Amino acid sequence: MSVWRVKPVSAFEADMKKSDLKRVLTKWGLTSLGIGAIIGGGIFTLTGIAAHDYAGPALALAFVIAGVGCLFASLCYAEFASVLPVEGSAYAYAYGTVGELFAWFIGWNLILEYMMGATTVAVAWSGYFTKLLHLFGIDIPIYLCNDLHTATEKCIALGLDAPSFAFNLPAFIITWIVTMILVKGIKEAANTNNIIVIVKIAVVLFVIIVGAFYINTENWTPFIPAEVPVLDDAGNPTGGVNFGFGGVLTAATIVFFAYIGFDAVSTQAGEAINPKKDVPFAIIASLVICTVLYILVSLVLTGMVKYDQLDKAAPVASAFSGIGINWAVFIITIAATAGLTSVMLVMMLGQTRIFLGMAKDGLMPPFFKALHSNFKTPHKSTFLVGGIISIVAALTPIDNVSEMCSMGTLLAFAMVCVAVMILRYKKPELERPYKTPAVYLVGCLGVGFNIFLMTQVRAATWKFFMIWGVIGIIVYFMYSKRHSNLGKSEAEDK
Ligand code: ALA
Repeated sequence: MSVWRVKPVSAFEADMKKSDLKRVLTKWGLTSLGIGAIIGGGIFTLTGIAAHDYAGPALALAFVIAGVGCLFASLCYAEFASVLPVEGSAYAYAYGTVGELFAWFIGWNLILEYMMGATTVAVAWSGYFTKLLHLFGIDIPIYLCNDLHTATEKCIALGLDAPSFAFNLPAFIITWIVTMILVKGIKEAANTNNIIVIVKIAVVLFVIIVGAFYINTENWTPFIPAEVPVLDDAGNPTGGVNFGFGGVLTAATIVFFAYIGFDAVSTQAGEAINPKKDVPFAIIASLVICTVLYILVSLVLTGMVKYDQLDKAAPVASAFSGIGINWAVFIITIAATAGLTSVMLVMMLGQTRIFLGMAKDGLMPPFFKALHSNFKTPHKSTFLVGGIISIVAALTPIDNVSEMCSMGTLLAFAMVCVAVMILRYKKPELERPYKTPAVYLVGCLGVGFNIFLMTQVRAATWKFFMIWGVIGIIVYFMYSKRHSNLGKSEAEDK
């Protein structure tokens, strides 16, 4: 059946030759790229909501749970990357192995991952930027640096009148700045990006090392605060819980976001010196390193101040202001603001490149592969992506967008685990420089863990997610299946 048609490896190789990239990245170069894409809004911002509302000191446990699911997925991703060392992502791997419809659906979910991921980071950026301005004595009105829901919450907490309008202006502006950089071309920004990655890792180590001296172990008790049912505005239970083990699981789905990005290494295969070995290495190494860093940061933050004292918009900085080390707040805020910008660049770049790949295969309209005459970048799709992200970031609470991002990613990860098992079964003879250990066990655990985390996400997010999925299926059958290049060449061959 044509929805299972597979893109031949020779076609990928032809695409790679055309792109003419220099092979300069070593395995540690790739790993640092991965770490650069991973550390961002998750650890700098979402830890606040996760600890304050759901997990308390058990934030570290939430990171362990989310990390295990990612580890299974990364082991499967790594095998995929070693079989098909092509540029792209899970979308390209699935197209080259399992088939078009499967690949399409992964691609459709990756859109959520990258687009909502960049949106989340834009809102996180706004939180740190606002904090930075505050350190310089400038305060933006609450209704101009938050969405309406968050602005209302903040005003009520401060005993002010709730606003009738709110717009997150810094999130809107940073999205357009990143959009313009991407339209002009990322190459010039690559060196700055490397410096930002180093600064970001240095600041995380700084938080762990300096923060460790200020841990008060009393702040860790109770490790998991007692469960409290979540009520809606009318005072009725919503079915969700704050704290307790249920709360820790919800926190795991929130901080799962912090791990997203290790898959971005796979988009760099075209620039790797030895992609078949080094891309799998970098995927796993960057994830393992970040997991260790995250667990340590969580323990330090919740040990430094009581979890309910952590600020939800800039928790890492607030932990240090909580113990009165204001110079550290300054350093952390500047580094986080810069670090978040680099994650936005990677995510928005990833998004436009996935669109580009899908459009080149005929699965998306040619609009997405139109290149600017001077800059040679996909400017139209970059503007469209930037436009959507800027509006959504300006109007939506951060946890809503991060959950949509996590849902898309969790499903894409689960599908990668399934795809690797299918490929082992269907083509056991393929050369695999990296093999997932105990693939059927790891694959099934990966699917189980990632789907389980999806079930922990709020009902409202599920509703949007289902609508997104249905739209995807409709678009595939109404447009993509008919315009697919592979489909056309199949028809010509007949
Ligand atoms: N993992 C990335 C972040 O936390 C997406 O910002």
